[in-house]
Amino acid sequence: MSEALIEDFGKTVVAWQRRHGRNTLPWQNTRDPYRVWLSEVMLQQTQVTTVLGYYERFLARWPKVTDLAAATLDEVLAQWAGLGYYSRARNLHACAKAVAELHGGEFPRSAAGLQTLPGIGRSTAAAIAAFCFGERVAILDGNVKRVLSRVLAFDGDLASSAAEKKLWDRATELLPQQDVDRYTQGLMDLGATVCGARSPDCLLCPVQPMCRGQQQGDPTRYPVKTKKLKRGRRENWWLWLEAGGQVLLQQRPSTGVWAGMWTLPMFDDEASARAALGGGELQTLPRIEHALTHFDWVLHTLRSESPEGMTPGGTWVAREKLADYALPAPLKKLIVES
Ligand code: ADE
Repeated sequence: MSEALIEDFGKTVVAWQRRHGRNTLPWQNTRDPYRVWLSEVMLQQTQVTTVLGYYERFLARWPKVTDLAAATLDEVLAQWAGLGYYSRARNLHACAKAVAELHGGEFPRSAAGLQTLPGIGRSTAAAIAAFCFGERVAILDGNVKRVLSRVLAFDGDLASSAAEKKLWDRATELLPQQDVDRYTQGLMDLGATVCGARSPDCLLCPVQPMCRGQQQGDPTRYPVKTKKLKRGRRENWWLWLEAGGQVLLQQRPSTGVWAGMWTLPMFDDEASARAALGGGELQTLPRIEHALTHFDWVLHTLRSESPEGMTPGGTWVAREKLADYALPAPLKKLIVES
């Protein structure tokens, strides 16, 4: 799209949202990140009508993020019961605790900062940052993928992460200079109320005149997503300990992924990673998403430059000797090139 068309697109979405979008949902008309975050996590895989009651009950019971942090996980899970996808509830609680304990009870005020928190992915982080802080960052949830791939006649296969990344780039190019909060809500609303998966209501669509998918005759051709063999997903935690110019590495077993290579000490969950260290401040780094043939690997990293007391077993390697060790690509990128 030309710059003029991009400007037109943004202004049209914003004007439409003002008149025809959803503007009275209980998590709107506030810039309180706690309220917006709670709604976005609940809405991740769940319809608005289902979320409404849960949202009110959570807020009545835990009015502030620090209240939620002080709850037990069992209480949160019990209150969540019926919403489904319980890892969201676990992450919700972990996130509240992280905000309370690591951020003084205040959510980070940028998408990049928000994305370091448990359960907040790129799109959710962007939505919160746009709604609460007016940050110019793109969202790309399922509904928005549908809207944008149709408008752009984007024919990349969204089953591939390269195509998905391209669509993120296009979504970022389309961002308006102003009113990003309303624009973001507008894209969500278009996806939910006009640009339906099977039967888009193009006659009611404000961006129909600039929709290339519509111009081609069949917008439902987009998004393109081939069915792929079901991929698994794994999640692990890396502990990146550095002291006196040395990094603690462990050698992987001789079979399996990265057989015989060297990585940071790796754990199945965050609690085990934390428990393996005697003390010292731990910083949470942005997660790494690594696609392997049969599964997607989500790697979280906790970092300490001043580990104290007990550390996991392994080999301390001087930074200048790292080149002598076989490090998997994402780890090399993390510890050598960053
Ligand atoms: N789905 C995800 N975020 C939403 C929002 N802010 N409003 C309505 N539906 C949503």
